[in-house]
Amino acid sequence: MALHIGSVAPDFTQESTEGPIHFHEWIGDKWAILFSHPKDFTPVCTTELGTVARLKGEFDKRNIKAIGVSVDDVPSHKKWVGDIEETQHTKMNFPILGDGDKKVAKLYDMIHPEWNDTLTVRSVFVIDNNKKIRLTLTYPASTGRNFQEILRAIDSLQLTDKYSVATPADWKSGEDCIIVPSVQDPEVIKQKFPKGYKALKPYLRMTPDPSK
Ligand code: BEZ
Repeated sequence: MALHIGSVAPDFTQESTEGPIHFHEWIGDKWAILFSHPKDFTPVCTTELGTVARLKGEFDKRNIKAIGVSVDDVPSHKKWVGDIEETQHTKMNFPILGDGDKKVAKLYDMIHPEWNDTLTVRSVFVIDNNKKIRLTLTYPASTGRNFQEILRAIDSLQLTDKYSVATPADWKSGEDCIIVPSVQDPEVIKQKFPKGYKALKPYLRMTPDPSK
């Protein structure tokens, strides 16, 4: 069955570079980003894994655990980690699932046979502390992902969970937000948005980032 935003992230048990992972238990009360890459010892993947390792502080700030996956096995991942650390000037600090039996790849529909019927594409799943899928992205093998964009989207998800706002195009944390159309009562607006708002149109009301 297709996985959608709002679906429960499928649970699994699988080997990883940090030992066996029971996925939901591993997530615990945090959020998670599960991302697949096509193959070990390939150039784009090497830069992506290094980038996520260097961004650990940013993921920690947002209470997010990162986990990678490809259809290679754990001994292969472990050999490759040395190359990632050497070329990307970082220490690996999150697990990579060994998925030789494609259990995770199949559960999350990460194999797109029109491209390649054995390798995973570059999928991203952001999963919240209720184990619900909150965001999905799919990139082709030849295009490395922008993890700053993924952090930015996570900022939006976590902000909009707390406040009655949405975030506009290219928004970054701290910039003006949009009051959601369902909030109409002037008293409620005053209470929820004490910094005020500017109505560019009745349906487009901008307010300072309420978290700041
Ligand atoms: C890469 O990570 O560099 C890559 C992997 C599979 C196909 C093309 C590029």
